[in-house]
Amino acid sequence: MESRIKRIYEMCEHDKPDIVVLANATDPMLDKTFFYATGLGNSGVFEGSYIFCFPDGKVEMITSILEEESAKKGNFPVHTFMTQDERKEKIAGYLKGVDSIGINAKELVHSQYMLLKELAPHAEFIDMSKAVRDARVVKDEAEIETTRIACRIASEAAEEIIPFIKPGIKESDIAAELVYLMQKKGANGPSFDSIVAFQENSAEPHYRAGDRVLKDGEFVLMDFGALYNRYVSDITRTYFMGQPNEKQKKIYNTVLESQLASLDMIKDGVKGADVHNTAAEIINATEFKGRFTHGLGHSIGLSVHDGSGLSPAVDITLKEGMLFTVEPGIYIPGFGGVRIEDDVVVKKNGVEVLTTASKELITI
Ligand code: GLY
Ligand code: MN
Ligand code: MN
Repeated sequence: MESRIKRIYEMCEHDKPDIVVLANATDPMLDKTFFYATGLGNSGVFEGSYIFCFPDGKVEMITSILEEESAKKGNFPVHTFMTQDERKEKIAGYLKGVDSIGINAKELVHSQYMLLKELAPHAEFIDMSKAVRDARVVKDEAEIETTRIACRIASEAAEEIIPFIKPGIKESDIAAELVYLMQKKGANGPSFDSIVAFQENSAEPHYRAGDRVLKDGEFVLMDFGALYNRYVSDITRTYFMGQPNEKQKKIYNTVLESQLASLDMIKDGVKGADVHNTAAEIINATEFKGRFTHGLGHSIGLSVHDGSGLSPAVDITLKEGMLFTVEPGIYIPGFGGVRIEDDVVVKKNGVEVLTTASKELITI
């Protein structure tokens, strides 16, 4: 993936390192940038594997022989090892005579950093984690197309789950069914542990799914996504079991209004914080003031939280090709909450919304 590696080097504000080394530890401590730089799809785990990236965009890999067939799907040289000694020897070969080594300090585990230092004691180490984040935040067409598929799968599941939702069902039943639906549609798995929260549990933004049983008149908040060729989608829909009361309806309509207003202002050149503030102002002008308790959205890609966000805490100007979630919510402790979340691509003059499941107030 020459263009991606060149991008990482271009984004480096420091002197460019002679080589960038990206290393995986044990699952889940795998550096997603390893997959960004190689473009490897679904197969292979690549624990304990290394890639070496060069300023001309070339990449080479050292991996266990067990990953050889998966690694060969990439278009770059692969060197395999059978023993740890052999692995160390091959890594040392790449570092010989190198003066500066770029690392992704946010993902590299300490033991591997110590190994690199042992093998290249005189080299300067340069933290490339900001360059990596800045390179990855603007997606190329292949990344956007893969995310489109992940979003389509999740959107279809959000609609097809509706007949399954009935009084007496458990949160965990819906969570399991969502994963089943998505995998039947070609997902490699869920992109994170699904959140399914009934009524009072929906006031907890990062709830999971438990054995709470659904009753008539309750919120059904579902936040889930599909993993497809290592890229994620992340969608939230909140439905009603039966008819909502006035308070539930007002919460839903306020969240929807704030979401539509923020979607409307997203385009190349707009500040991420301003998009958040638009949604927050709409919510804070109601009786639900102060109950929108998180940032409006986050970048997605190989990770669900891919390094950037739409929030007053993040200084970012939106650029064409960035992928963000837009997910305002209102959370009333002890009562319940609503969140509506879509995934969007920033365009020159607006957005493309990739998650297409209906946002009309849905009663079941
Ligand atoms: N699913 C977690 C989030 O929306 O950030
Ligand atoms: Mn989500
Ligand atoms: Mn999200």
